[in-house]
Amino acid sequence: MVVYDQFLNKRWASFGWKRLDARPLAVMPVCGFKARCDAFFGHRGDFPGLTGSFLPRIWPKHRLAETINSAMTAVMQLTRRLSERPGVPENLGIRLRHFAGPEDIPVWLSIREGAFARQKVGVRHWDEQDFRTEFLEKPWWNPRSMWFAELSDAAAGLAIGTISLAWRGAPPAAKPAIHWLAVLRGYRRRGIGRLLLSALEADCWDQGHRQIWLETHTGWSEALSFYRALGYHSTTEP
Ligand SMILES: CC(C)(COP(=O)(O)OP(=O)(O)OC[C@H]1O[C@@H](n2cnc3c(N)ncnc32)[C@H](O)[C@@H]1OP(=O)(O)O)[C@@H](O)C(=O)NCCC(=O)NCCS
Repeated sequence: MVVYDQFLNKRWASFGWKRLDARPLAVMPVCGFKARCDAFFGHRGDFPGLTGSFLPRIWPKHRLAETINSAMTAVMQLTRRLSERPGVPENLGIRLRHFAGPEDIPVWLSIREGAFARQKVGVRHWDEQDFRTEFLEKPWWNPRSMWFAELSDAAAGLAIGTISLAWRGAPPAAKPAIHWLAVLRGYRRRGIGRLLLSALEADCWDQGHRQIWLETHTGWSEALSFYRALGYHSTTEP
C-alpha cells in the first residue's frame, strides 16, 4: 500500500503486503486513516475546521499524524499594498452585480460547489444555513460586500464567479480581507477572477484602505498562482 501526502502529492510511505499480513494491528490504522482522509476531504472536508482537532483524536500517539497534520496546516496569509486605485477591466462580456437578496443564496452555493469541486483540498457541502452563518450573521455583512460575475451575452444572467469582502477585527481598526473568491472551472483564465478582485480592491480603495489581506491554502495551487500574478505575497515575505 502506498500512502500519498494529500497536499504535496508526494509519496511519503509505502507498506508491503507482507508487512500488512505480519503486523495487521500496526498497519491497519494507516489504511483506516487514508480512507477517512479521503472521505473527509472528498465529501465532508472543510479545511479550517480540521487542523488541530480531527487528526490528534484519531491517532494521538502516532508520528504519522504529526507529519500529516503539519502538511494540513499549510494555510497561507497573503497581502497586497495598493499604490493606486485599481482599474476594473471592461469588455469581457461580464457584468458585475452585488448580492440582491435571498434568491442569490442558492446561486452563491452552486458557484462555491462547482468551483471547489475536484480541488486537492475539497470543501464540504454547504446549505443555506451555512451561508447565513458565513455571511448574513456576520457583523460586517453588507450586500454590497459580495459581488457576482454574470455573463452578459446570450446566456445573460448566468452567474459564473463571486468574491466577497470580509473584515478582520472590529472597526475602526478592521482590516479588509478577500473572502471566498471562486470562478467556475469552465470560465477560468478569461480574466474573470482578475475582474472580481479588482472590483473588490477598488471598493477598498474608495473606503480609504490601502492594504488587503487574504487566507488561502497551499493545496489550492490555482489560487496561489492567481494571487501571486496579481501582486499578492506572503505576509512573512518583506
Ligand atoms: C483562483 C481563481 C478564482 C482564478 O480565476 P480566473 O478567472 O481563472 O483568473 P484570471 O483568468 O483572472 O487569471 C488572472 C491571472 O492569474 C494567473 N492565473 C490564474 N489561474 C492560474 C493557473 N491555474 N495557473 C497559473 N496562473 C494562473 C494568470 O497570470 C492569469 O493571467 P493570464 O490568464 O493572462 O495568464 C479560479 O482558479 C478558482 O475559482 N479556483 C478555485 C477556487 C479557489 O481556489 N478560490 C480561492 C480560494 S482562496
